[in-house]
Amino acid sequence: MSQFTTGFSTFTVKRFAGENIRETTSKQGQQLRYTYEEYKVTADWLRANTEHRPLIAIICGSGLGGLAEILKDQKVFSYSDIPNFPQSTVAVQGHAGRLVFGTLNGKSCVCMQGRFHLYEGFPIWQVTFPIRVFQLLGVQTAIVTNAAGGLNEDYNVGDMMLIKDHLNLPGFAGNSPLVGPNDERFGPRFPCMSDAYDRDLRKLAQTVARELGFSDFLKEGVYSVVGGPSFETIAECHMLKRLGADAVGMSTVHEVIIARHCGMRVIGLSLITNKAVMDYDSKSKANHEEVLQTGRKRASQLERMISSFVERLERNNNVC
Ligand code: HPA
Repeated sequence: MSQFTTGFSTFTVKRFAGENIRETTSKQGQQLRYTYEEYKVTADWLRANTEHRPLIAIICGSGLGGLAEILKDQKVFSYSDIPNFPQSTVAVQGHAGRLVFGTLNGKSCVCMQGRFHLYEGFPIWQVTFPIRVFQLLGVQTAIVTNAAGGLNEDYNVGDMMLIKDHLNLPGFAGNSPLVGPNDERFGPRFPCMSDAYDRDLRKLAQTVARELGFSDFLKEGVYSVVGGPSFETIAECHMLKRLGADAVGMSTVHEVIIARHCGMRVIGLSLITNKAVMDYDSKSKANHEEVLQTGRKRASQLERMISSFVERLERNNNVC
């Protein structure tokens, strides 16, 4: 038996028949990851409690939880009622903490009204828990939304940005949701991420935006995830911009990595809720109220965009 430490956790490695089998709890009895069986318990429970069989998952970003309200024939679960589900800690700040099943343009969807963030103190394997549950439920396409700060000077507050790529800053420091033993039942040890954001889905979103007259405020760019919860310093914003990021936020990337790992197609959409402060003479300050306010202002357009996108997915049934 041997021990090693990554980040905050000490893992015990047992040797069975020449293989290292890592424990799912630490020496102190803390849970270190979910087992395949735990994901399955949750998926089976949901399947037993709703007749919906979603092919599409929609993850609502800060202030964008209203998206879930456009689903018809809803079946709603509080996270606190679902076995194994983490409990959102920021419900009062724009994240509701409910899983909403329903149909959108006749298509069965599941919608996360509130997600889990690293800054809430969740370990990364809890942040991404719902995604693998969705995969076990049969979801094939993930629509991931977020609120983000605009780094690109051409972006305005209220713009939507289709995510074409990401920078995973916590991942550079070893905090990836795929760290630890790989479960081949979900996906490969070393998944490709160069095609994380599906090109065909992005094209479809561009078409939908054009038809809705949204092209003027639809951008396409690179999203960088940071740990938060403090907003970025001016120097950090300059660094992210130099690294190639157009927008910055505190979510999404971990979920996308897990979704891609288990074979889902992904489309990511950021709402630019504030401009990142890049100038030492600037008087403006990033704040959560502005994030929520912009979400409210653009809510109906975002809903139309996602609704039409899902409708077109149906028409081009090659993509979901
Ligand atoms: N930085 C990080 N996360 C955010 C921002 C931001 O400026 N705006 C909304 N989420």
